[in-house]
Amino acid sequence: KRVAILISGRGSNMSALIDACKSADYPAEIVGVGSNRAAAPGLKIASSHGLKTFSLAQSQFESREAFDLALTQKLEEWHVDIVCLAGFMRMLTPEFTLHWAGRLINIHPSLLPLYRGLDTHARALADGASVHGCTVHFVTPGLDEGPTILQAQVPVLPGDTPETLAARILVEEHRIYPEALRLLASGALS
Ligand code: GRF
Repeated sequence: KRVAILISGRGSNMSALIDACKSADYPAEIVGVGSNRAAAPGLKIASSHGLKTFSLAQSQFESREAFDLALTQKLEEWHVDIVCLAGFMRMLTPEFTLHWAGRLINIHPSLLPLYRGLDTHARALADGASVHGCTVHFVTPGLDEGPTILQAQVPVLPGDTPETLAARILVEEHRIYPEALRLLASGALS
C-alpha cells in the first residue's frame, strides 16, 4: 500500500513509520510527507530519507474547504492509498475525512475517549490519573472520535511533569503507530 504522512512539527512518529516501512516484509511504503507548515523540522528528515515532500499554507487559500481540497489533490497525485496523520495540528473538514474514510488514521497522546484535543498530559496530571497512554484511531469528522485501532498504556509516576509523561508515552507511540499501519495496510482492519 502507498502511504503518505502529514505532519506539522518534529516528525518523530513520521520517522518511526518511515523506519518500519524499510523492513522487507512490511506491507506499506511511504511515498511522501506533507505539511501545513513549511518550517516543520520533520520535512527535512523526510527529504533526507529521499522522500517527496510538500507544504501548503492556509494563507494561500480562501477557505478551509479549499485548503483540504488541495491537500486531497496533492495526495492523489501520489496515488496514495492510506494517509497517516502524525502530529498534524490542524482540524480537517468533514469533506476531507469522509473522502479518506477508512484510509485515514491518527495518533493521539491519550487513552481515547479520555482527553480529546490538546494538552492531554497536563490534563491527565491535573486529574490525578494513575494511567495514561496513546491511541491510534481512524479519523472521522469529530475531533479524536473515530474507532480505535490500538492503544498503549503507561503508568503515571510520582513527580511526573507533562514532559516526563509525554516522553514515556512517545516511546509507546513509536511502537504502536507502525503496528497499526501494518494492520491496516495488510487488510486486517475494516
Ligand atoms: C505526538 O505526541 C502525537 O501523539 C501528537 O503530536 C505529537 C507529534 O510528535 N498528535 P511528532 O511530531 O510525531 O514527534
